[in-house]
Amino acid sequence: MVKARRDAGQTVLHMGFGESPFPVHPRLLKALQKESHQKDYLPTIGLPELREAVASYYERKTGLDTSQFDVIIAPGSKLILYALQMAIEGDLLMPVPSWVSYGPQARMLHRDIIKVPTVLDEAGFHIDPDKLRAVIHAARAEGKNPSKLILNSPSNPTGLTIPEDELQAIARVCQEEDIFIISDEIYGLITFDGHYRSIAKYAPERTSVSSGLSKHLSLGGWRIGIGFIPKAVDGLHSLMSNIASETWSCVPSPIQRTVIEAYRGHEDIEAHIRACTDIHGLMSGFIATGLRNLGIIAPPPQGAFYNYPDFAPYREALAAAAIHTSVDLAGKLMENYGLATLPGTAFGADPGVLTLRLSSCDYDGTAALSALQNGAPLDEDFIDSYAPRVREAVETFGKFIRDNT
Ligand SMILES: Cc1ncc(COP(=O)(O)O)c(C=O)c1O
Repeated sequence: MVKARRDAGQTVLHMGFGESPFPVHPRLLKALQKESHQKDYLPTIGLPELREAVASYYERKTGLDTSQFDVIIAPGSKLILYALQMAIEGDLLMPVPSWVSYGPQARMLHRDIIKVPTVLDEAGFHIDPDKLRAVIHAARAEGKNPSKLILNSPSNPTGLTIPEDELQAIARVCQEEDIFIISDEIYGLITFDGHYRSIAKYAPERTSVSSGLSKHLSLGGWRIGIGFIPKAVDGLHSLMSNIASETWSCVPSPIQRTVIEAYRGHEDIEAHIRACTDIHGLMSGFIATGLRNLGIIAPPPQGAFYNYPDFAPYREALAAAAIHTSVDLAGKLMENYGLATLPGTAFGADPGVLTLRLSSCDYDGTAALSALQNGAPLDEDFIDSYAPRVREAVETFGKFIRDNT
């Protein structure tokens, strides 16, 4: 629909796709030019020098003892998540809402999906440990085999994080119930308070961590993912390397050699990550405030570049306008207002839950980043100058509410 509208010369305010808009860091650009002649196959689990750089970078960033893990390099963290789902027998405990690919991956592997309820509020993304335990017990009573829990904090679609004490409590339940944890930390370095929180700290013997450079360095198309595989799980690392060997073989050699630089801790790259994160924080905070001012439930995001507003306060009024589901809501916004969003159903929400996922990336990241680097303050004028479509999108929500409620 976005393409059709654009082809017809109509404007689209694009909050549908979540791609970080910033340019390739110049140091990485230079390194890629230097490494472009490289052509050899590399070890399936990744270049040793890169794996070592990744381990020490994460040790410094997170305080994790990375010697408890084997590092694996893959063409994107999505394939690490898929390989893990393949390698670990049993059914998937999946919080709702969750990122769009976890469920389809489980279904492709003929595993059941067991939904775990969550609460989203100003303090973050919550999974009640007692409810988690109850879900595990109920699934077992039905003859299912809940064996792994997938977590994503900061989360896509919510932009919220799981508080530290709750990570600890969830880890304890997983230890007591013998559940493996797949911790998708692809947004781990995009937190607005600058803190890295990983559940792997509390259950290193049963947690895998996956990440990459797609988000904090805006390098999604470079297809580089990293995984920490717990050594304590017997045979898991060799299963993962067999999967790598029989499928993707290795991440392209020029890319692996280049991205070592992204894990050296260079001050210029770290400053670039902080600047991009600050801009993400400005955009998603602005959207959340704008939506709350319209009476929509929109907790302020704590990381990543998404908002997940809930239109529940307008349920009755919207029903009168024939909007009963999140798909109706997204459809109406697209067709009548040129505002592209994703419905909550794409993230596992029941159809009648009136949530949308909004990505806050519809602006020129190169111009915004250079303005910040040249001293432009991160305020509302910054949005008007460098992200006018983000403001227009919030104003369009206002028009939508006035027209339909
Ligand atoms: C929550 C989440 N996990 C994983 C991924 C996959 O990232 P990649 O395969 O580029 O590392 C994405 C990207 O959209 C994501 O949003």
